[in-house]
Amino acid sequence: MFPYLKKDTQNIYDKGLWRSRLTARPLSCGKILLNNHEYLNFCSNDYLDLSHHHRIKKVMKSHIQKYGFGSSASPLLAGYSFECEELEKTFCRILGFEDALIFPSGYQANIGVLSSLITKSSRVICDRFCHASILDGILLSGAKIKRFKHNDSAHAAKLIKANSPNLLITERLFSMEGDIAPLDELCSLCRHFSLPFFVDDAHGFGVLDTHNDWKLKKIKPDILCIPFGKALGLNGAIVLGTKNIIDLILQFCRSYRYSTAISPAICMGVLESLDILHQEEWRLEKLKKLIYHFNTAALEVGLPLLSKDITPIRSILIGDTHKAVAVSKHLRNKGIYAPALLPPTIPKNASRIRLSLTCAHHICDIDYLITTLKEAIT
Ligand SMILES: Cc1ncc(COP(=O)(O)O)c(C=O)c1O
Repeated sequence: MFPYLKKDTQNIYDKGLWRSRLTARPLSCGKILLNNHEYLNFCSNDYLDLSHHHRIKKVMKSHIQKYGFGSSASPLLAGYSFECEELEKTFCRILGFEDALIFPSGYQANIGVLSSLITKSSRVICDRFCHASILDGILLSGAKIKRFKHNDSAHAAKLIKANSPNLLITERLFSMEGDIAPLDELCSLCRHFSLPFFVDDAHGFGVLDTHNDWKLKKIKPDILCIPFGKALGLNGAIVLGTKNIIDLILQFCRSYRYSTAISPAICMGVLESLDILHQEEWRLEKLKKLIYHFNTAALEVGLPLLSKDITPIRSILIGDTHKAVAVSKHLRNKGIYAPALLPPTIPKNASRIRLSLTCAHHICDIDYLITTLKEAIT
């Protein structure tokens, strides 16, 4: 079947890029069960270890018992729940936005919002390393795209002058590099050129701010997307903007309109997560200590860290695909789960081990990780 795919599949296989899945159960103690073996888990976006939090479980359980799980319909029919409305209002209040829309996933949010707000006559400028959901949204719209060098606002400025674009897009904390975008500079550029500014804060939300100091409240991009599957520990995503922008998305967004609305129980879970962020600051403090410790130890033994920023995504550049796979395999044999990231997820010759640290880890886990990585690389 599908004989026209044969050449491509053979190619993927020959290059060592064939993908498969493992049956996984992430545990709450920084570990994971894979095919019934337990590993130290350095592949989780659950940075604040909230996905197992007893308060979130309790709130969701009691909500499901009272009202069931599903939203039962698309949000424009009967699926827009009271809980979803409350969550939208809560985010608007915390971050100072006028209006918001909640999607069942960040991927749906990005492809939907971008393909609604830009068209094939538009021009878009975005960071070279923006996430696939952003690229797919732009492709779907048919807009022309120019990508600026990663985190290089001077290059962004050049592209703006040369192309008179309709939108500038960046992530805040890059999911594959683990470094932070120059948001202030990009925002000033956008203001200077009256250019709408879109920020995807999938990985930064909850780990780059404290609850009384939301940087994005000050920067206030025109459109902000925050998926809930990372530090908040759940699923879904919110898109925030002015009332006018959110109304436009509501009129044109196919991935919003033609999909079942997010479960109200998940909205209750996210509301609880937000409350826990405020009340349990120790989670972020512990995570930061682990990141400092990791960076210092990794640099001491000469590991090729892609960025020294204080973020939970710590990528180790290996380069060659086969070597990256071998390093990951070595870690696995030593009880550590940290998969290799390979093209096309990342650029050619930039295969890497992407590590994510969470507040469920311990200093001794980090030390063991560093020693084992050093052993595998040299
Ligand atoms: C930067 C970025 N944006 C969007 C998404 C998509 O979010 P979701 O997992 O909720 O579909 C991801 C997920 O990996 C991401 O890393």
